[in-house]
Amino acid sequence: MEKIKDQISIIQKAFKEELRQVQTADHLEQIRIIYLGRQGNVAELMGTLKQLTIDEKRVVGPLLNKLKKALTQSYERKLNTLEKADSKKTTFDLSAYKPNQLHGSLHIFTLITEQLQTIFSTMGYTIIDGPEVETDYYNFSSLNIPEDHPARDAHDTFWLSNPGYLLRTHTSSAQAHAMEKTKPPLAIFSPGRVYRNEATDASHDFMFMQGEGLFIDKNVSISNLMATAQDFLQAFFEKKDLKIRVRPGYFPFVEPGLEIDGSCPFCKKGCSVCKKTGWIELLGAGLVHPNVLKCNKIDPNVYSGFAFGFGFERLAMIKYGINDIRLFRSDNLQFLKQF
Ligand code: FA5
Repeated sequence: MEKIKDQISIIQKAFKEELRQVQTADHLEQIRIIYLGRQGNVAELMGTLKQLTIDEKRVVGPLLNKLKKALTQSYERKLNTLEKADSKKTTFDLSAYKPNQLHGSLHIFTLITEQLQTIFSTMGYTIIDGPEVETDYYNFSSLNIPEDHPARDAHDTFWLSNPGYLLRTHTSSAQAHAMEKTKPPLAIFSPGRVYRNEATDASHDFMFMQGEGLFIDKNVSISNLMATAQDFLQAFFEKKDLKIRVRPGYFPFVEPGLEIDGSCPFCKKGCSVCKKTGWIELLGAGLVHPNVLKCNKIDPNVYSGFAFGFGFERLAMIKYGINDIRLFRSDNLQFLKQF
C-alpha cells in the first residue's frame, strides 16, 4: 500500500513538471494519453487495486480518484490556456484569396520604365544600366564637379564607409561609363534608382528614379536637343500638341545648361497642375561640357553632344495626377491597383 502511495506522489509531481513544459495542444494530448489515457499511468495504478485488501482499498481507492480528478483538472486548465493563446495569434485568412477576382498588376515603376525605354529605343537610343554604388569619379569628377565644388553640396550624398564610394545621386553617372565603352556617335538612355540624403515630403524622396539621355556626334546643337525633348515629352504624355520652352539652368556638366518646361498637358489657360502658368518644369538639360568630353578622351573640337535628365516620379505624378511621391513605395493597394 505504501508503494502505491509513493507512486501517486511521483505521478503527481511528474505530471506537473511535464505540463509546465507543454507549449502546444499536440504535446498536451501526448501527455494526456500517457497519464490519463485508457492504458496510462493512472489507469495502470488503478489496476493494482485488486491486489489490495478491502481495508487497503478503502484508503487507496479515494486517493487514486483524487489523483485522477486533480490531473484531469490541470489538463483542462492547460488546454484552455493554449486555446486562448492560439485565438490571439494572427492567422492567414485563406478565404481572402478569391481566384479570378484579385488581379496582380505591374508596379507603376515597371510601367513607366517600360514606357520610357520603348520611347527612347524607338528614337534609336541604346538602353544602358549603371551601378547604384558608384565612385566619386563617375558621380562627380568625370562630370566636371571636382572636389570642393559647391554643386556637390546640392546633392546631399550618401557616402559609404568605403572611402570614395557613394550611392549615386543621379543617373548622369552613366555618362562616363557610356563614353568609355562606346566611341561617338553614341546615343544612350539610362534609367535607374538614385539616392539623396534628403528629408522626405510630398515631392521629395531619399530614393527615387531618374533617367539620363546622352547623345554625342559631330555638329550636335541645341536644336537637336529641343527636337528630342519635344518628341519624347509628346510621346510620354500622349499629347501631339505639347510644346516646350527652355530657360537657363545650371548643371556643371553642361554648357549652356537649360531647364526645359513643357506646356501643361491638362489645360490651355492654367490649372492647379501648372500652378496657373500653363508650363511645367520637366527636364534638366544642356550641351555636354567640353571638360566632360575631354575627361572621356573625346575631342570637343570634333564632337559635341547634349544630355538631359529627369525624375520618373515627378513625370508620373503629373501624368497620373498623383499628389504624394511617398505613395510610389507604399503598400497602399488603392493606389497600386490603379495601374
Ligand atoms: C540632376 O540630377 C541632373 N543630373 C539632371 C541633368 C542631366 C541635367 C543631364 C542636365 C543634363 P536635378 O538635381 O535637378 O538634376 O534632378 C533632376 C530631377 O530629379 C528633378 O527635376 C526631379 O524630377 C528629380 N528629383 C530631384 N530630387 C528629387 C527628390 N529628392 N525626390 C524626387 N525626385 C527628385
